Amino acid sequence: MKNSGQRVVITGAGSGLGRELALRYAREGGRLALADIQDDGVKETLAMVEQAGGWGFTQRCDVRDFSQLAALAQSCQERMQGVDVLINNAGVSSGGFFWDLTLEDWEWQISINLMGVVKGCKAFIPMFTAQRSGRIVNIASMAALMQAPGMSNYNVAKAGVVALSESLLVELQPLGIKVNVVCPSFFQTNLLDSYRGPDLASKEQVAKLLESSPITAADIADIVFTQSEADRFMILPHESGRQAWAVKQANPQAIYDEMTRLASKKLQVPSS
Ligand SMILES: NC(=O)c1ccc[n+]([C@@H]2O[C@H](COP(=O)([O-])OP(=O)(O)OC[C@H]3O[C@@H](n4cnc5c(N)ncnc54)[C@H](O)[C@@H]3O)[C@@H](O)[C@H]2O)c1
Repeated sequence: MKNSGQRVVITGAGSGLGRELALRYAREGGRLALADIQDDGVKETLAMVEQAGGWGFTQRCDVRDFSQLAALAQSCQERMQGVDVLINNAGVSSGGFFWDLTLEDWEWQISINLMGVVKGCKAFIPMFTAQRSGRIVNIASMAALMQAPGMSNYNVAKAGVVALSESLLVELQPLGIKVNVVCPSFFQTNLLDSYRGPDLASKEQVAKLLESSPITAADIADIVFTQSEADRFMILPHESGRQAWAVKQANPQAIYDEMTRLASKKLQVPSS
């Protein structure tokens, strides 16, 4: 089984979901390119991958910098003779009402959570088109579909990831390249370590939501592996997320009303 599995590259592999995805593919004998800006975290992931029966290498890669992603693609070509699955997972968290967010907050959030995914796709698609095979798994969020109050820059970045994934789905399918997008609700990871925003109250609320998840990062990695291999395009790992998305599609106003109620509560003003 060792070294017989898929060749997988994961950004943000030094922590949380990225690490669990690495372990999930490793259990299938996957060969892994593990990239992150955290050297210690990604080395720890590699040790765990090796223990789980996988093979891998690490490479420092900041997804804001296209040249680092291109260098990662080059290393994958040299060390694995190609890639079967690209997982654009690296991400950061942010919060704050629109009027409190600065333009710098917006640029920072978009540069990582949206442009990091655009650049990841741009760096690896030439390899996939040459191979005439490959799979792109983009990690978005339920925030892309629900637009909760007090996190507009995160919502927009993740909605962009869903729109990009839908665009690539149709453009790449004729070339034999597959695309999946994952929209998890909150789950416990180190995501809050990267939190940026004007108010700490939002950070505390997000911390509570992360803790309240009925499923773990390992559960989500398992769902992503199974459902992407089954070619389900949009993967919604949480039951509550699937229910909310069904309501939004049938009756968007019901979700807008609920989000307005949440905003009023956060702002401590009576809802109209
Ligand atoms: N945890 C949640 O509740 C949740 C919910 C929905 C979506 N997501 C998404 O899941 C993905 C993984 O996040 P996580 O929850 O595992 O958080 P995490 O903080 O545990 O892991 C994210 C990893 O990305 C890395 N990273 C951050 N900026 C980077 C950059 N510029 N270049 C390369 N690597 C970078 C971090 O070093 C870290 O190792 C993110 O895209 C996040 O938005 C998380």
